Amino acid sequence: MIHIPFFILLPPWFLVRPSSSLSHSVGEPKRSLYSASTMASDESHYCIGIHDQPAFSHPLLKNHTIQKSLTGTRAKSEWPTYEAHVSKVKCPVDTIPVQIVTALDHRAKPQTGTINRSYQHEYATVATDRLEKLYGTIATINVWEPVVENSGELSLAQMWITSGDCETKDLNTIEVGWQVCEVFYKDNKPRLFIYWTSDTYNTTGGYNLHDPGFVQTSSEVVLGGAISPLSSIGGRRQFEITILVWKDPRSGNWWLRVGTDLAGYWPRELFTTLGDHAGKIDWGGEIIDSESFGRHTKTQMGSGRFPQEGFGNASYFRNIQVVDHTCNFQPTPELFTHADTPYYDIKNLHRDELGTHFFFGGPGFGHRHSGVVSLSLSQFFLYLCFSFFIIIII
Ligand SMILES: *[C@@H]1O[C@H](CO)[C@@H](O)[C@H](O)[C@H]1NC(C)=O
Ligand SMILES: *[C@@H]1O[C@H](CO)[C@@H](O)[C@H](O)[C@H]1NC(C)=O
Ligand SMILES: *[C@@H]1O[C@H](CO)[C@@H](O)[C@H](O)[C@H]1NC(C)=O
Ligand SMILES: *[C@@H]1O[C@H](CO)[C@@H](O)[C@H](O)[C@H]1NC(C)=O
Repeated sequence: MIHIPFFILLPPWFLVRPSSSLSHSVGEPKRSLYSASTMASDESHYCIGIHDQPAFSHPLLKNHTIQKSLTGTRAKSEWPTYEAHVSKVKCPVDTIPVQIVTALDHRAKPQTGTINRSYQHEYATVATDRLEKLYGTIATINVWEPVVENSGELSLAQMWITSGDCETKDLNTIEVGWQVCEVFYKDNKPRLFIYWTSDTYNTTGGYNLHDPGFVQTSSEVVLGGAISPLSSIGGRRQFEITILVWKDPRSGNWWLRVGTDLAGYWPRELFTTLGDHAGKIDWGGEIIDSESFGRHTKTQMGSGRFPQEGFGNASYFRNIQVVDHTCNFQPTPELFTHADTPYYDIKNLHRDELGTHFFFGGPGFGHRHSGVVSLSLSQFFLYLCFSFFIIIII
């Protein structure tokens, strides 16, 4: 077990309760729109005042005081080169970028794009068991542009930080990764996304800044923004994003860091079972299959190649670590792999002192693979539960 003091991997100010907390006024959000210079992005967005962001129309956040991180210090990237760029813009101080689709009005439900809830969700994932109390995770994921056959489907790679249960209807989740989903974004680019729910995907939570909850503090990171450059099959260069989700022991808020950028946090108030710790973390891929023409679609997971092809061809998570109760990164505890159809797979889970990695993905229809891992009963319930996970309106 390596014990890396957490403060080495995080900038010192990350651990310090910010001195400059700002209160906010509740009410009709002022649509303080600023023009923003685009850095590496063709995205449409507005900059809105940090106190006017969607989060503060959530009833549980009426009295919430923004936890502001100090600016100017950045953690060194722990990873070598080939970092993919997430979409960033430069909004003025005390404003945050909001994708134009959500900036219009986050309370009125605009034109809806929804995923048919009867479509099949399929997974290839690695999970911890439910024995440990977990306070966060870090992982590096390479980024691809999988083919998604129908606009009502999606393909993603993400982490699920969860507590509670489907059966007891108190499942809380925090979810982060990249996804290709035409219904949400009107194109097929892989995009950074976040999601949360506190009631088993029933009525609470939502994606990015579309539904109130997540408090963004970064004036640059665009949630829902495209990621580039992308990895390519047989390419020696893999382009990756590094995601850290970590529970600040002082405030209880769950912070999100993307690369070296602190994006913001999910306030403690949003959660029930995730209020204290996470009971389980999953990492891996998911697709939605619309079964058009009565067969499994050709929607790809990850790179569209089976994990057996390994580095250079297959999608992976690497350097997976969890955060324990002492606020230290730890190698992952015992892990369980799961793939629920022969169209996708997960393989080569490897754990040692230097980190944990695995490969996952597959091509969808037309290329079955025989080595499907059977799933335990408890996993079965969890995955049944995740299959209710999409209730989206953008
Ligand atoms: C906000 O503060 C007021 C006054 O202290 C209190 O009555 C109310 O319950 C609080 N609301 C929430 C959601 O905490
Ligand atoms: C949703 O999918 C089901 C099963 O494929 C289909 O019967 C139904 O018509 C679809 N609903 C919509 C609104 O497309
Ligand atoms: C979803 O929420 C509604 C309204 O709060 C509630 O009546 C219903 O029982 C919930 N369903 C589940 C599956 O939790
Ligand atoms: C990776 O993909 C290339 C191009 O399709 C192929 O030639 C090569 O054999 C693949 N590598 C492995 C290890 O399967």
